[in-house]
Amino acid sequence: MKNDIKEVLLTESDLKSKISQLGKIISKDYEGRDLVLIGVLKGSVMFMSDLMKEIEIPCSMDFMAVSSYGNSTKSTGVVRILKDLDFEIEGKDVLIVEDIIDTGVTLKYLVEYLKARKPNSLEVCCLLNKQERRKADISAKYLGFEVPDFFLVGYGLDYAEKYRNLPFIGILKEEIYS
Ligand code: IMP
Ligand code: MG
Repeated sequence: MKNDIKEVLLTESDLKSKISQLGKIISKDYEGRDLVLIGVLKGSVMFMSDLMKEIEIPCSMDFMAVSSYGNSTKSTGVVRILKDLDFEIEGKDVLIVEDIIDTGVTLKYLVEYLKARKPNSLEVCCLLNKQERRKADISAKYLGFEVPDFFLVGYGLDYAEKYRNLPFIGILKEEIYS
């Protein structure tokens, strides 16, 4: 699996220290509030579980699954909801936890969709941002890293459902998907 990686962009220790910082900031900002983390399946799973362990205040978790990619490396721009929330979020302080913002189409759609459920507040915590490729007007209040426009895998990010279990984030060799 590691032979398919051109370059490691973020090591396990880069990820760990950044997530610990994010956890501290979120713990402070949400002190005394009713925090719900909403993970976007499946890419955010590793980030969500590591981030949650760094949050020192009570919080709950829920998940949504959306699809905009299929098995390609380019977004189709069409968002479908595959799994909705298990719990109501009305009056809650919602933090969407996402792996990466690329065009921003997925997240923009999700934010609008969740706003309609009347949370007390709604923010985004995203591990990676590919600013160059942005199409939709959206940004994350809490961000891990700015990344260049390469197809990335590992730490939850996949290509055709593979590579999610790499403990680091790397650039996938082009010959794998072209
Ligand atoms: P967007 O709607 O274009 O912002 O796409 C967001 C989703 O596409 C992310 O949540 C990821 O699941 C996926 N995605 C975007 N860029 C990459 C990448 O470089 N590697 C793996 N998945 C990606
Ligand atoms: Mg995703």
